[in-house]
Amino acid sequence: MTNSTIIAPSILAANFGKLAAEVKQVEDAGADWIHLDVMDGNFVPNLSFGAPVIAALRKSSSSYFDAHLMVNKPESLIGDMKNAGCDGITVHFEACTHLDRTLSIINEHGCCAGVALNPHTGVENLSQILDKIGLILIMTVNPGYGGQKFISTMINKIRQARQLIGDRPIQLQVDGGITEQTAPLAVAAGANNLVAGSAIFGVGADKYKLQIKAIRGQ
Ligand code: DX5
Ligand code: ZN
Repeated sequence: MTNSTIIAPSILAANFGKLAAEVKQVEDAGADWIHLDVMDGNFVPNLSFGAPVIAALRKSSSSYFDAHLMVNKPESLIGDMKNAGCDGITVHFEACTHLDRTLSIINEHGCCAGVALNPHTGVENLSQILDKIGLILIMTVNPGYGGQKFISTMINKIRQARQLIGDRPIQLQVDGGITEQTAPLAVAAGANNLVAGSAIFGVGADKYKLQIKAIRGQ
């Protein structure tokens, strides 16, 4: 595994009572991006947080903010996410009726446009719109909760996505059940960007640095 793998801790697993401090601690421990899981209680059963919380975190962080919108009709939230300070906005293929238009709106806002694929959704669905995409997110769990088990059959899908991307400047991100054991499998299949929630925040702040290094394969 190379140093160029981006590690994006998901604050879904952080202590919500001291979120800004948690973000600072993972940044100091070597996090590259901050992954922000926005859930609407509709596309997924769970509710998490939205633009006001992200805007509050933005005040004390200059990291790349990577928003993962697990919401129906995400197009209505793009302006709020941009204004809250998000750098990248990822929407779910399954949540967008007019995905091409939604990606255009994200790009027009000057954000990196990402598309997440649930485990049942094939990568071929993206083949006609690759020019609008800056990031493909392969879900290795069904979205909605942290702490789930990595679905190992998704390794083949990561390979397919890497092949589809070819030499295009598209990040290949993996999210769900990433640990020091599963991270090398995802990277070997072609991922260059790993989201990890419970594997990082579950170990305690004094071990964030060691854990990020371990997930990076160092
Ligand atoms: C799942 C979220 C993930 C989640 C990952 O719906 O998109 O980002 O926080 O959590 P872990 O790493 O615990 O599987
Ligand atoms: Zn996520």
